[in-house]
Amino acid sequence: MIQSARQYHEHTSYERNNLSGHYLDWSNQPHPFKEYKGLDRVELPRTVDGPQAPLDAMSRGDSGAADPEKTTLPVLSRVFSLSAGLTTRSRMPGGEFFHRSVPSAGGLYPSELYAAIRKVPGIEDGLYHYSVARHSLTRLRSGGFSRNDEPCLVFFVTAIFFRSSWKYRDRAYRYHLLDSGHLVESLSLALRSQSLPAAADYDFDDEQVNRFLGIDADREVCLAKATVFGDVAPATDLPPVRPEASRTAARETDYPLLNEIHTLTSAAASAPPPSPDLPAGGATSHGLGKPLAKPEMGFTDTILLRRSRRNFVPHGMDRGKLSALIQFLCPPTESPYDDALSVGFLTGEVSDVEPGLYWLDRKEKAWTLSRKGRFIPQTTRICLDQGWLANAACHVFFAADLDALDTTCGPRGYRYAMLTAGRLGHRVYLGATALELACCGIGAFYDPEAADLLGLEGGQRMLYLLAAGPSKSPIR
Ligand SMILES: Cc1cc2nc3c(=O)[nH]c(=O)nc-3n(C[C@H](O)[C@H](O)[C@H](O)COP(=O)(O)O)c2cc1C
Repeated sequence: MIQSARQYHEHTSYERNNLSGHYLDWSNQPHPFKEYKGLDRVELPRTVDGPQAPLDAMSRGDSGAADPEKTTLPVLSRVFSLSAGLTTRSRMPGGEFFHRSVPSAGGLYPSELYAAIRKVPGIEDGLYHYSVARHSLTRLRSGGFSRNDEPCLVFFVTAIFFRSSWKYRDRAYRYHLLDSGHLVESLSLALRSQSLPAAADYDFDDEQVNRFLGIDADREVCLAKATVFGDVAPATDLPPVRPEASRTAARETDYPLLNEIHTLTSAAASAPPPSPDLPAGGATSHGLGKPLAKPEMGFTDTILLRRSRRNFVPHGMDRGKLSALIQFLCPPTESPYDDALSVGFLTGEVSDVEPGLYWLDRKEKAWTLSRKGRFIPQTTRICLDQGWLANAACHVFFAADLDALDTTCGPRGYRYAMLTAGRLGHRVYLGATALELACCGIGAFYDPEAADLLGLEGGQRMLYLLAAGPSKSPIR
């Protein structure tokens, strides 16, 4: 039995020459779309114009208090399609692949989206599940979640274990959290685009929320909440709602370590995360100042054009684009989970920027050169030798001190760090797209080698990396 999140992270580390081969059973591939049979559906309008203010305007500042009266069905439709909807399709050897507004490790999409809606015009009160495939809402409950009569709009992000563990086995919990973090950020931006600012919340009573969602909590679990207005106070005796819908393949293998880490992190946190204390090294600090390049691409276009692009070219990146990209990692609105991790980046061919390893002070909007050198070829090898990474102008990474998190917050701190890494990773994807750069998330790396390269010590570990830089073909 594992005793800490660090132990889970270490048990699921990839080590060179020690990767056990795993055969993917294509005949038992998990179904990527959750559907409920025989329940009432609300069709969402398909042709609703998306907002086209630039992404940086969308992520900046406070858009004021949300107004329940203005939360109409077309508004909700935009929120669901911009945050979690299908964007385009690609031809793949095995058939068609549907891209979504969020990326997902291995394209397996473990995360599902639910909303508790009360006193919102044009839609009956209820708990709803968003069907990505149909762009519709399925009503799971018609009430039972509020003690009062106040309007309520609260979203829930879950992960279905087997969707990702089919491929990643015990390591899958990392992807459940990173993918869910991507969805939380996507949802927050989509809501903000509709003047509905939301507060993300990773602290809730797991058992109570899972019961409220009606899911089979051995297969699917809630990992994050986002509250726009009101709150849910569900009755304690609610029955499940078609729990069989949480099943995603005919034969689902149980990975005990996933249950162990999830149970461990289910305990309430003891305190907010500590301030990160990661190596800063060198003394050369640069303020980011005003972004030197301004992304003009509209928000909806950015979402529709976002893709994992791997066709990097090793030239054409300048300091202006790098600083504009890094600005997206410094969200203007603070979250209580911000301190759960540290952010850094490695630069290769970026004009007027010394190649090296930098740490970012997100609050001060300043970057510090920690070590000079060309490290991109090394990270490429560390990321399971995915050769195309070598041409990326920069590699952004997220790291956390898992021991410090455990001491301060308890095991739930692991969720804070990984969900935050996913949220920030999403900003890198969208920021890169808006700047017409290619970008791809990387969850597969040799963990000890990554820690060595970044100079991480004790319980500090790298959590996630994204490559970004000029692309061989135009983004639009
Ligand atoms: C957490 C995470 C980890 C990922 N890891 C890798 C990776 O190691 N290698 C890779 O080529 N792509 C990786 N991807 C990209 C996915 O393969 C990609 O998002 C998915 O196939 C869907 O395609 P799209 O992003 O173009 O819509 C990752 C994505 C996420 C969100």
